Amino acid sequence: MLTNDVLDRWDRENFFHPSTHLAQHARGETPNRIVTGGKGVFIEDRDGNRLLDAFAGLYCVNVGYGRSEIAEAIAAQAKELAYYHAYVGHGTEASITLAKMVLERAPKNMSKVYFGLGGSDANETNVKLVWYYNNILGRPRKKKIISRWRGYHGSGLVTGSLTGLATFHNKFDLPLSQVIHTEAPYYYRRPELGMSEADFVAFCADELEKLIAREGADTIAAFIGEPVLGTGGIVPPPSGYWAAIQKVLKEHDILLIADEVVTGFGRLGSMFGSDHYGIEPDIITIAKGLTSAYAPLSGSIVGDKVWKVLEQGTDENGPIGHGWTYSAHPIGAAAGVANLKLIDELGLVENARETGAYFNHAMKDALGGHAHVGEIRGEGLLCAVEFVQERGTRTFFESDRKVGPSVAAALARRGVIGRAMPQGDILGFAPPLCLTRAEADEVVGKTVEAVVEVLG
Ligand SMILES: Cc1ncc(COP(=O)(O)O)c(C=O)c1O
Repeated sequence: MLTNDVLDRWDRENFFHPSTHLAQHARGETPNRIVTGGKGVFIEDRDGNRLLDAFAGLYCVNVGYGRSEIAEAIAAQAKELAYYHAYVGHGTEASITLAKMVLERAPKNMSKVYFGLGGSDANETNVKLVWYYNNILGRPRKKKIISRWRGYHGSGLVTGSLTGLATFHNKFDLPLSQVIHTEAPYYYRRPELGMSEADFVAFCADELEKLIAREGADTIAAFIGEPVLGTGGIVPPPSGYWAAIQKVLKEHDILLIADEVVTGFGRLGSMFGSDHYGIEPDIITIAKGLTSAYAPLSGSIVGDKVWKVLEQGTDENGPIGHGWTYSAHPIGAAAGVANLKLIDELGLVENARETGAYFNHAMKDALGGHAHVGEIRGEGLLCAVEFVQERGTRTFFESDRKVGPSVAAALARRGVIGRAMPQGDILGFAPPLCLTRAEADEVVGKTVEAVVEVLG
């Protein structure tokens, strides 16, 4: 292997990293971790550090690192047939098998799976399908998409617009005009402290109603939401939220896209977040946990209602004008088949439920009483610790104090990776679904030490 210094220099001279302070990185002011290996919930870097990755990469390595079953499936596929396209009805055994496996696990009333490469392009596909759907139905004005503030749906043009976080809009001329945002279901940050959960749910539904009334229901095609807000702060919805939202959407004939890029394939302790919360989506976005990130693959699961109209559209207009060279790439599909088998064999959905409950309880027991911890929340193997200046008055820290990033850095120095979420002082956890109770204890213990180091 090349010496460390050469790699470091090449990195800073040549490599444009995503979501990185480009100038500081080029000047050598930011840390540069070069990752060399991984096993189970641990990764290793070139300096010999071994870290417990309690964010599973970017909440994607759900089966854990170093699974030879998936590596071997990828190698076998690459040797036999590394690539063939999926246009005009072509397929491979892997892509056809994976589509069947996904639908067997999906919520009811789903019809077909379109495969892409990542969550962003899958949501891009979804928006196009929704527009096509309304054109075929003769409703050319019904095109706007409602998303939530703090939602995360990718960082492309339309998907970056769907994302409701300022850093993904600023200086990029986003959001595009076809995307509008409504209230986030973030009870801890409710507008008035005195609101009950039920009051807040009614408030969110009312905000949605008002937005639809202002814009006109005949201009709105779809609503997109993650079952649990992810990158926006790891926020499970208040009880009754999805039922209230779906009622409004049905009344106005607005499609529902469930973005299950994080929640799909077990993260919440259910196979899908839609089943977990009684959501009945028209389209579901999947990525990350589909292959546990062993190869890039995403999908749009299209429900019966939309599928029928897509078929009608091609009868009227010819083949659908949508597709990527790498749609349903055989290597990604082979990784997906091996990954979904492994999730079943290892009982990872159940483990996410049981160890997730243990982890969330342990975190609350250990830190729930800390003077600067405002809330600890989670579901399955998702957990967030939100820091505040003053608990009683719910006063937040100034963002330039960088409390969240400081705690995450203190935690990393102790050998555990958590993620400082991009908006607010929130430390997020989304470990691989194979996490054990002993590993959960280690994460909690080190988090307490890191919080005490930064906040006392
Ligand atoms: C809910 C959700 N949707 C979409 C995306 C975008 O996926 P990708 O980064 O693969 O484009 C993400 C990424 O974190 C996500 O969390």
